[in-house]
Amino acid sequence: MSSTTVAVVTGANKGIGLAIVRSLCKQFSGDVYLTARDADRGKSAVAQLQAEGLKPLFHQLDINDLQSIRSLRDFLKEKYGGLNVLVNNAGIAFKVADTTPFATQAEVTLRTNFFALKDVCTELLPLLKPNGRVVNVSSIASVRALAGCSQVLQQKFRSDTITEEELVKLMEKFVEDTKKGVHEKEGWPNSAYGVSKIGVTVLSRIQAQLLNQTRKGDGILLNACCPGWVRTDMAGPSAPKTPDEGAETPVYLALLPPGADRPHGQFVNEKKVQPW
Ligand SMILES: NC(=O)c1ccc[n+]([C@@H]2O[C@H](COP(=O)([O-])OP(=O)(O)OC[C@H]3O[C@@H](n4cnc5c(N)ncnc54)[C@H](OP(=O)(O)O)[C@@H]3O)[C@@H](O)[C@H]2O)c1
Repeated sequence: MSSTTVAVVTGANKGIGLAIVRSLCKQFSGDVYLTARDADRGKSAVAQLQAEGLKPLFHQLDINDLQSIRSLRDFLKEKYGGLNVLVNNAGIAFKVADTTPFATQAEVTLRTNFFALKDVCTELLPLLKPNGRVVNVSSIASVRALAGCSQVLQQKFRSDTITEEELVKLMEKFVEDTKKGVHEKEGWPNSAYGVSKIGVTVLSRIQAQLLNQTRKGDGILLNACCPGWVRTDMAGPSAPKTPDEGAETPVYLALLPPGADRPHGQFVNEKKVQPW
């Protein structure tokens, strides 16, 4: 088994994920895995970084496919005996002009951005080594969506005692409410993407607390963040930041030095902790 440290980035064949891998290859002293659901797209992204003189490694990962997550988990266990850095970057967003029914958008968006990210955490967080770092790429859209929720929902999402099971039930309820056409009446905002990212931010708060209980003393830090508004296929050409600039906050959190005790369980934007 290799004693080399190892970092994994999800959804890294393009956009912010690719830029995170580029930056980690320059700054992280260990193996960096560029993962992608499509092996061809992933390998051509690896080739692109190799042409820049960098040495990322590749592993297939479709976060919507439990088998795929478990095969990465087994590979990391066997080759490295664990994991040092996990960046949950993979995500999707329907375009504003997309005419897909809102209920379908809600189901599809939540499936990847919340439920699949949660599955990755369920399988990979137990592999974290001491001083491990986890970065869940959320969005400032989660803060805006929270503000658009009813007081009752806001209280639940801000609660320090909400459990993962309760959060999952709320995310499922949002999808069900959109199918019944009652989501606004039930206090939800009109953004499937925003609600999915509420899920990511709240899940991060819950996971950080769980780590405090189960891995106390191991120095693991887990946070959610926003990369900013970044020029990618998702956000379009008008966004002000380059993908490399968008990678800065996620990479800052991924490389918090050993011995650091914060931020942990926070939502971070422009490298600063934001109120939730
Ligand atoms: N761009 C922004 O302004 C902005 C702002 C706030 C937050 N974010 C967040 O930042 C993250 C990266 O966004 P981006 O702008 O770089 O978007 P992007 O250019 O559309 O890239 C998204 C990446 O996620 C991958 N992906 C989607 N579903 C996947 C799955 N099931 N399994 C594995 N990979 C999957 C995509 O792979 P394929 O190429 O195979 O589709 C792609 O590599 C997302 O979580 C997004 O919500 C972005």
